[in-house]
Amino acid sequence: MRHDNVAPVISWIAGIVAVIVALTLPLGYFGVAYRSLATELAIEAKFRSGTITRFINDRPLAWTTSEHHLDELLTRNPPLRKGQWNRLFAADNTEVMHAGLEPKPPVLTMTTDVYDAGNVVGHLEVQHSIRELLQNTAWVALFGLMLGAAVFIALRVLPLRALRRATDALHEEVKLHDQARATAEAANHSKSQFLAAASHDLRQPMHSLGLFAATLSERVRDPEVRGIVDNINASVEALESLFNELLDISKLDAGVIQPNLSSFPIEPLFERMRIDYGPGAAEKLIRLAIVRSRAVIYSDPLLVERMLRNLIVNAVHYTAKGGVVVGCRPRGDRYSIEVWDSGVGIAADKLDKIFDEFYQVGNPERDRRKGLGLGLAIVKRIEQLLGYQTQVRSRPHRGSVFRFSAPRGLSVVSLSDPVGRRADDAHVAHDKCVVIVDDELTVREGMKALLGGWGCDVIAADSLPDALERIGEHARLPDAIIADYRLREGATGIEVIRTLHAEFGRNIPALLITGDIAADHLRDVRESGYPQLHKPVSPAKLKKALYSMFAAHERV
Ligand SMILES: Nc1ncnc2c1ncn2[C@@H]1O[C@H](COP(=O)(O)OP(=O)(O)OP(=O)(O)O)[C@@H](O)[C@H]1O
Ligand SMILES: [Mg+2]
Repeated sequence: MRHDNVAPVISWIAGIVAVIVALTLPLGYFGVAYRSLATELAIEAKFRSGTITRFINDRPLAWTTSEHHLDELLTRNPPLRKGQWNRLFAADNTEVMHAGLEPKPPVLTMTTDVYDAGNVVGHLEVQHSIRELLQNTAWVALFGLMLGAAVFIALRVLPLRALRRATDALHEEVKLHDQARATAEAANHSKSQFLAAASHDLRQPMHSLGLFAATLSERVRDPEVRGIVDNINASVEALESLFNELLDISKLDAGVIQPNLSSFPIEPLFERMRIDYGPGAAEKLIRLAIVRSRAVIYSDPLLVERMLRNLIVNAVHYTAKGGVVVGCRPRGDRYSIEVWDSGVGIAADKLDKIFDEFYQVGNPERDRRKGLGLGLAIVKRIEQLLGYQTQVRSRPHRGSVFRFSAPRGLSVVSLSDPVGRRADDAHVAHDKCVVIVDDELTVREGMKALLGGWGCDVIAADSLPDALERIGEHARLPDAIIADYRLREGATGIEVIRTLHAEFGRNIPALLITGDIAADHLRDVRESGYPQLHKPVSPAKLKKALYSMFAAHERV
C-alpha cells in the first residue's frame, strides 16, 4: 500500500480517537462530579429538613422566631460549605431564615419540605454554586484536548513518519534495483554488440577455412595427409558448432526468431535423433533408446528439434554407463517429451543454475572442448518463446530427467518436412551456373573450389558491378545466386539479388550468407524473404540449401 493511500485513513482514525479522548474526559468528569454533588446536596437537604421538622414539632408556634436554633440547624452538622447557602421558607413562601452567602450562579438547588404534625409548614432550599465544578471541567477539557493532541500525534504522525521512512527506503531500493537493471541491460547490450562484431569478423575466416578444408578432404588421396585433413575438418566442425550456439543465443536474445506453429508428427524428428546421436552413444558403449511414437504435436518443429537436440546431446554427453531413453507420452491434452539418462546427475543446489548462460557444473577450467554452457540457456529461451516450462529432476550419480510438454496437434501429416530433407546427392548442383558475390577474396576462392568440385560453373564477383560485368562476359545466365549479406561500402546482398533479378527478368534462386548477428541486420535478412545461411557454412549445409533452392525452383 502506498503512503498516499494510507495517510488519509490513518489521519481519520487518529482524528476520531483524539476527539473521543478530548470529549469523554471533560464530559465524564462533569457527569461524575455533578452527580456526586447532587447526591451530597440531596442527602444534606433531607438530613437538615429532618432535624428542622423535629425542632418545629417541639415548638410549633415559636419556631419561626428561634433564630439562634434555626441558624445552628442550617449551618452545623454537617458544616455549611463554601459556595452554598441554605434557606428556610414558611408555608407562604416567605423566607424565615438563610445561612451562608448567596452562591454565584449557576447553582444546583435541592428542596425538601418541613412538617409540623405531618403537615407541610415550609420548605428548605439547599443551593450550591457549580461554577467551580464548571471551571474544573474546563481544566479537564483543556487536559483532554492536550491528551487528544498527543494521541493524534502518537497515532498519526509517528506511524506515518515510519511509513514514509519505509516507503522512502523502498523507493531507494527500487531505484538501486532499476539502476542495477539498467547497468545489466547496458552490459548485455554491449555484450550483444561485441558478440555481433566479433562474430562477424571471426566468421569470415572460419567460413573460408571450412570451405577450403572440405575441398581439401575431397581432393586428398594420400591416407596420411587425409588423416590430418580429417582432424582439421573435425576441429572446424567443433568450432562451427560453438559459433552456431553463440549465434542461436544472440538471435533468440535479439527477438528475431518467432515461433512458426504447425501440427507435425514427432516420429520423423525422433528418427533424425536416432541417426544423428545413435552412433555417438554406441561409441561410448551406452544405449540410446528413442521410443517410437505416433504423437502429433502442435508447435514449432525447428524450435522443438533444437530443444530436444540440446537435451539429448547433454544426456549422451553426461552419461558414462547405462543409457538414455527419449519418449513422448500423452498427458491430458498435451504430450510430455522426456529425456531420461542414467548419467552423473546434477546436485540439487545446481539445478536452477544450469539454465544460466555459460554455466557448467564440471568445467571450472573452462575447457572449450567441453562446450560453452549455452545448450540449456538456448532451451530456456526457446521454452519461453513457446510458453513451455522444462522440468528437471536429478539425483547425483543416478541420472536425470528433463521434460517439457507441448499441445497435441491435429493428425495431419505435413507435406513439406523442412528439417527432414537430406541432400546427399553430390550431383544436385552439377553443371549449374552459380554466381557468388562476396567481398572477401578467401571466401570467393573457397566457394569456387568447393562448388567447382561439385561440378558447378562458378562466377565469383566482389560486388554488384563486378558481378554484372562477369556475367556479361560469361555469356551464360546464372541458375543461382549466393550473396554475402554485408558487402563493401554499405552495399548488401539483398540489393545484389534484387538487382540481378530485375536485370535478368527472372526469379533466379538466391541464397544469402551472413556472418552478422546484429539484431537489425538479422531482421533485415529475415524480412527480405530469401533463404539464409549463417557463417561459417558447412559444405553439407550449403549443399542442402542449394538442393532445396533448385528443388523449390523446379516445382514452380
Ligand atoms: N543430462 C545431464 N546430466 C548431468 N548434467 C547435466 C545434464 N544436462 C546438463 N547438465 C549440466 O548442466 C550444465 C549446463 O548444460 P548446457 O547444455 O547449458 O552446457 P554444456 O553442455 O556444458 O555446453 P554446451 O551445451 O554449450 O555445449 C552442463 O555443463 C552440465 O554440468
Ligand atoms: Mg549442452
